[in-house]
Amino acid sequence: MARDGALLLRDRDMGRPGCGECGQIRVDSAGARMYIYDYHRIFILVHARGMGEWNMQLRKAVMQDVEAIHGLVGYYAAQGLLLPRSRLSLYESLQCFTVAVEEDRLLGVAGLHILWADLAEIRSLAVAPEATGRGIGRKLVETLVEEARSLGIPQVLALTYQRAFFERCGFHPVEKHSLPHKVWKDCLNCSKFPSCDEFAYLRTVPVEHSSPLRLPASLCPAPR
Ligand SMILES: CC(C)(COP(=O)(O)OP(=O)(O)OC[C@H]1O[C@@H](n2cnc3c(N)ncnc32)[C@H](O)[C@@H]1OP(=O)(O)O)[C@@H](O)C(=O)NCCC(=O)NCCS
Repeated sequence: MARDGALLLRDRDMGRPGCGECGQIRVDSAGARMYIYDYHRIFILVHARGMGEWNMQLRKAVMQDVEAIHGLVGYYAAQGLLLPRSRLSLYESLQCFTVAVEEDRLLGVAGLHILWADLAEIRSLAVAPEATGRGIGRKLVETLVEEARSLGIPQVLALTYQRAFFERCGFHPVEKHSLPHKVWKDCLNCSKFPSCDEFAYLRTVPVEHSSPLRLPASLCPAPR
């Protein structure tokens, strides 16, 4: 990872006014890594020895992750790259989210939102600025695609400006007007509506066709 700590410090807005935590510098116990505590519980890695060694883990989000997810999504939302998410919307859809973490540090997040029986959407995909380019975005996408497969959902959608990234992840572009109306329900609340300039990308997911469950016998119509 060719990240220069000094560059990161110079380029980034280090913290929010009035926040006592942001801007604090911490060094881990082995003295190998130095972090800036920024944007409420998101550690920004500014220096590390042996940068190749990341002990990253992907797991489903839990309630204790919400503040960091809110901070990371908000960081990119402020740049117009993601839609902002309120804490309430994160609480309500917590089960949708997968996080990439290293120890107690959030590296990335993404959510799979079911739109219809045959379609789910990747939302709020974000990788921490210092962790991009390490395959974390792709891992998150693959995890959500696998989740869609295990749920029996044959298509995954992304509405995005990151065209090259999604093409590298096996998605293909589609015309927005070809998507079902259900996709646009949440767009009504978006500041970009009705002039959305995001691009639509789809990936087909190979699902196993198991037979649908039948009603319990007590609810089946009696034979005539
Ligand atoms: C877009 C984003 C999720 C990518 O995450 P990442 O961890 O850096 O991506 P990866 O390292 O997994 O990259 C996977 C592939 O996509 C390519 N890629 C990633 N970002 C790219 C970009 N902006 N332009 C071109 N290619 C890109 C990588 O080179 C890599 O290619 P490879 O197949 O040759 O290995 C991350 O940059 C991000 O959070 N951006 C801001 C928020 C955002 O726009 N989210 C998407 C909303 S839908």
